[in-house]
Amino acid sequence: MSALTDLYEEIAPCQQCTLSKTRTMVVPGEGAENADIVFIGEAPGWHEDKQGRPFVGPAGKFLDDLLGLIGLKRSDVYIANIIKCRPPDNRDPLPPEIGACKKWLDRQLEIIRPKMIVTLGRYSMARYFPGQVISKIHGTSKKEDGIIYFAMYHPAAALHQQKLRQVIEDDMRKIPQVLADGSAADEEDEKKEERPEQLSMF
Ligand code: URA
Repeated sequence: MSALTDLYEEIAPCQQCTLSKTRTMVVPGEGAENADIVFIGEAPGWHEDKQGRPFVGPAGKFLDDLLGLIGLKRSDVYIANIIKCRPPDNRDPLPPEIGACKKWLDRQLEIIRPKMIVTLGRYSMARYFPGQVISKIHGTSKKEDGIIYFAMYHPAAALHQQKLRQVIEDDMRKIPQVLADGSAADEEDEKKEERPEQLSMF
C-alpha cells in the first residue's frame, strides 16, 4: 500500500462536515504519488460524487484535453480538489467545509511534495494566492518555500464562456516553461550552497 492509498482509507469515512451526510462517495484525488505537478480544483460535482474520482465530468474532459496540449496524461500528474465531497446542487463550498477539509489536502501535498501547484478557479486560488483576483493573475506564477504556484481559470469556465477557452489553453501551454524555470532556479541555488567559498572571491 502506498502512503496515498493509506490516506484515502482515512479520508473515506470522514464526517467532519455536513457534506458527509449528502455525498455518495468521497473524492480524495488521483494521480501519481511522485507527481511534479498537482492540479487543485474546487469540489466534486455530480459525476465525481458518483464515481469517487475527480474531474470526470465535462470540465474533466476539458482538463484531459488541456493536459494533452502539454504532452501529459492524468497519470503523470495529481488531481485533487479543495473539498473532497460534493456540495448539494453543486452550490459553492462554505468556509466551514473548506476549513474541515484542509488537513486532507495538506497531507496529500506532504506525501506528494510537488514542484508545482496549479490552482484551478477561485477557491484554490484563494488558498494559495490570498486576496488576488483571477482575471488579473491567471497565467502567472510565484514561488514560495520551494514550490511554484500557478493560477488558472477553472476549466468549467470555458464551458460557460467560450471566449475563455483560448485563454485557458494559452495559460496551460505556459506550464512546462514555468516548471523548467523554477527547477533551474532550484539547481542554481543548490550549486551556490555547494560552493559557498566562491562568494568570498567577490
Ligand atoms: N469541478 C471541480 O472543481 N472538481 C471536480 O472534481 C469536478 C469539477
